[in-house]
Amino acid sequence: MNILLLGSGGRECAIAWKLQQSPLCKQLFIAPGNPGTAAYGSNVPLSVNDFEGIRQFCINNKIDILFPGPEDPLVAGIYDFFKNDTDLKHTIIVGPSKEGAQLEGSKVFSKKFMQRYNIPTAGYREFTNDNFEEGLKYLKNHSLPIVLKADGLAAGKGVVIAQSTDEAISTFKSMIKDAQFGDASKTVVIEQFLDGIELSVFVFTDGNNYVLLPEAKDYKRIGEGDTGPNTGGMGAISPVPFADSTFMQKVIERIVEPTVKGLKSENIIYQGIIFVGLIKVNDEPYVIEYNCRMGDPETEVVMPRLQNDLVEMILKMNGGKLNEVKVQHDPRFACAVMLVSEGYPGNYHKGRVMSGFENVKDSLLFHAGTTIKDGNIVTNGGRVIAVSSYGDTIKNAAYKSYDNAAFINYDGKYYRADIGWEFL
Ligand code: AMP
Ligand code: GLY
Repeated sequence: MNILLLGSGGRECAIAWKLQQSPLCKQLFIAPGNPGTAAYGSNVPLSVNDFEGIRQFCINNKIDILFPGPEDPLVAGIYDFFKNDTDLKHTIIVGPSKEGAQLEGSKVFSKKFMQRYNIPTAGYREFTNDNFEEGLKYLKNHSLPIVLKADGLAAGKGVVIAQSTDEAISTFKSMIKDAQFGDASKTVVIEQFLDGIELSVFVFTDGNNYVLLPEAKDYKRIGEGDTGPNTGGMGAISPVPFADSTFMQKVIERIVEPTVKGLKSENIIYQGIIFVGLIKVNDEPYVIEYNCRMGDPETEVVMPRLQNDLVEMILKMNGGKLNEVKVQHDPRFACAVMLVSEGYPGNYHKGRVMSGFENVKDSLLFHAGTTIKDGNIVTNGGRVIAVSSYGDTIKNAAYKSYDNAAFINYDGKYYRADIGWEFL
């Protein structure tokens, strides 16, 4: 199989690492990739949203499988673009149709979907410019905190948890009146705040059958003890101690099965990943959001723990035979620690020379925001590199990642020293 993986983050580095281990993988290309993915395949200088460029590349290189890592190309309809093209329609796409990707691309779509199938989620209302005044009144009378979400994609920044009515109102105004997130915030979902502990569940579906990949927990806040602003994710662990069989059975019965069945009953084409971001409130699972892709940095612990051949799973997915797959988990814990640039998630420097890679032992390095400049690997993003390790306990996995994180050098290196903290 010739495979083209789209993306350039830590997630894609971990997926590339996994794909190239498969004997079924003949050639692996990553567009645009990063210095980490270059170790597992050939990087191709194409943007994930350059459908025309991707089209030509796939034809020229006889690509059998297209694996979009991030949500953007899926929400923009890369699936439909391929299936409507006579030269490309036989390509296997790991990901949903444009309509299916609305589970992530539109909060209103996903809320209504959950409502139709009684899938547990926070209560909500939706507002636009047309019922703006009603929205203000609603916010003034609502208990705190309260959650405001831009309907569309906003690069992970479209969710605000307002602690005061003033903050809620000013956020609401800037989203709707000042188009803070452009068209994405023309509609705003106002949602009840759920207080609990989060879990990332990864469903791999062929549209009929599904399997669960190892679950993970992501650490989103920049500061230790889960303080400070939200980031793309500062680390992850897998497995997650509270996701025991009783809890996961509830997740399957109340969320996963109604989701897969609901998509099927509405003839929404969906072959790929459904990432359910959920929250456990008093032992009960509620959906916070759906995503149509893997999580980052969750993938940096999920791929290391997935023992199956990923390419074989993709072929089973394409054949509608995921019922024949039994997912094998590595019994060990995995812990990913994300090394970031000082200042992130605010302003930060790029281009800082990195060193020390050769001293890392017994950890996997998944490059996220790095590039090559003048022959050196340099920082090129807020999240720079994930250090993932195995251990027989969370603590041992985390310690190994911290030991190795110390070897990687660059100016302004920062990481959270407490990944997995609540389970130690
Ligand atoms: P999202 O972009 O929907 O994943 O939201 C980003 C983050 O905001 C989530 O990972 C949660 O930490 C938090 N969040 C979103 N919705 C809620 C909610 N209803 N209650 C509490 N926290 C939430
Ligand atoms: N780590 C959360 C996400 O990928 O959306």
